[in-house]
Amino acid sequence: MCGIVGYVGQRSALDVVMGGLRRLEYRGYDSGGVALVGDGTIMSAKKAGKLVNLDAELAARPLPHSHTGIGHTRWATHGAPNDVNAHPHLDAAERVAVVHNGIIENFAALRAELEAAGHELVSETDTETVAHLLHDELARTPDLSDAVRAVCRRLEGAFTLVICDAAQPDVVVGARRNSPLVVGRGQGENFLGSDVAAFIEYTRDAVELGQDQVVTITPDAIVVTDFFGAPAVTKEYHVDWDVSAAEKGGFEWFMLKEIDEQPQAVADTLLGRHTIDGQLQLDEMRLSDGELRDVDKVIIVAAGTSFYAGMTAKYAIEHWTRIPCEVELASEFRYRDPILDRTTLVLTISQSGETMDTLMAIRYARQQRARVLSICNTNGSTIPRESDAVIYTHAGPEVAVASTKGFLAQVVACYLLALYIAQVKGTKYGDEIATIIAELEKTPAGIQRMLDEGDQVRKLAAELAGSRSILFLGRHVGYPVALEGALKLKELAYIHAEGFAAGELKHGPIALIEEGVPVFVIVPPKARDQLQEKIVSNIQEIRARGARTIVLAEDGDMDVVPFADHLIRLPKVPTLLQPLVATVPLQIFACELAGQLGHDVDQPRNLAKSVTVE
Ligand code: G6P
Repeated sequence: MCGIVGYVGQRSALDVVMGGLRRLEYRGYDSGGVALVGDGTIMSAKKAGKLVNLDAELAARPLPHSHTGIGHTRWATHGAPNDVNAHPHLDAAERVAVVHNGIIENFAALRAELEAAGHELVSETDTETVAHLLHDELARTPDLSDAVRAVCRRLEGAFTLVICDAAQPDVVVGARRNSPLVVGRGQGENFLGSDVAAFIEYTRDAVELGQDQVVTITPDAIVVTDFFGAPAVTKEYHVDWDVSAAEKGGFEWFMLKEIDEQPQAVADTLLGRHTIDGQLQLDEMRLSDGELRDVDKVIIVAAGTSFYAGMTAKYAIEHWTRIPCEVELASEFRYRDPILDRTTLVLTISQSGETMDTLMAIRYARQQRARVLSICNTNGSTIPRESDAVIYTHAGPEVAVASTKGFLAQVVACYLLALYIAQVKGTKYGDEIATIIAELEKTPAGIQRMLDEGDQVRKLAAELAGSRSILFLGRHVGYPVALEGALKLKELAYIHAEGFAAGELKHGPIALIEEGVPVFVIVPPKARDQLQEKIVSNIQEIRARGARTIVLAEDGDMDVVPFADHLIRLPKVPTLLQPLVATVPLQIFACELAGQLGHDVDQPRNLAKSVTVE
């Protein structure tokens, strides 16, 4: 939520900052802005809307050349998404420029204090108060880093701040509390960014920042302290993907590229996690086998698509480990007084590693002495850092706001964890685990087949582009797939879409069925005959009431043929693995339909990829 960039070095700061903002635009696109330091002044430009508007503004009124700059792409919280509220915000003397991600919770009190002292604030943002506080602080404490530390001590809430000062041309200062910021280490240049995509074009060497830290970058140094100036310990790491992974590579949308990368994302997430004879080995696991053996309850906590990965994982965890498992929305978890203790494993799932609700759930769980294990796709992010253990998904950077490859990789990582616990606890024999792993290893080929057969889904999207409402039905692990299919359609195509557990149909949803309503139905494999038979009956019930049925069923399931207006064939896979193939056509469908309607598939309205506010 909001993308932030900072640069000092020898290059054109504007080029570096704008390039970084373009790669961070997925974080928010309500407005964009830059500030450059030059000759004792701050030069800035900002514009509401996507970065193309800022590009036009910079073309119309170019900024002078500079080697030091900051930039921001906004997801609005305080104040409407207009030019005035766009970042950067400056103090009245235009000495400092500030960009900010997060929410400063005590900003109303700070603003009142500033106004009483004669400051005139022009925007409705919480951020502008920081610029004015810095103005006053710099009168007492001329060093920018000292002034930032002093101001940070007064702020409450979540914030990443990046600041430049007209009086200190080769310095950019950043600060973070509960909101992401990473440092890129270059040679004769250094970078700040909300994530490494901001500077991946120039360096793959990154420095992780901890909580409540201030970083000062100059062309030759990176200095990190706490909010009181004490030196801080930092962790350096090397990013294992390069700039090509963060670009579209010939696809019209990032989302299409990421859908296409799913066989690789799943294969990479499985890679190196088991021996040739099917023994699980999770090298990065920081929980001992003894600790895992003691686990008597798993609570999965996540948001959005990651929550649906968690719903899917619940079936596998309970089935393979016989440990009771609950799934909870991160935003609800800590407000319901959950029962946690040392033998509870809280499993959080987050692609970005920065979702605020999930992070808060982790802190709450750890306070209650539960163990926290995170499944995450982003090295160096806050969630894995604050967890007791982590399993990384190796899906590569996900840029499109709607998650696709992140989801499949999360399901796979959860399954690996479930199998690992089963191995440690002995709830599955070794040969059973090896069989499941062998099946998992086959799924990239199954996913590839779904991609290769995508044309029928594309045709269907064109036919159904005029629909007012589209429904999705599933049972067992098909239920979260139905929910995920509906979520994709809502977020991308802005069409009313609902996912239902097919068994609940008669308890209400069937009233929504009228002539011509498209209904996707995910049919469980025939091996689960009871479930399969029941859903075939459901298909007949809705079809009798006029629904247009789009049936996803495995190869060879002929029972569904008479009742399917459209039939999408799935490869034969074990029931628990079916989500890995069945989700793919639903992703393609939503993406294509949104494209047909002329929507921006990668940056749907009102959304942001990384929700770093509660
Ligand atoms: C946002 C994104 C979703 C994502 C959710 C959770 O809503 O738009 O695509 O599933 O956040 O994000 P996380 O990074 O925690 O998985």
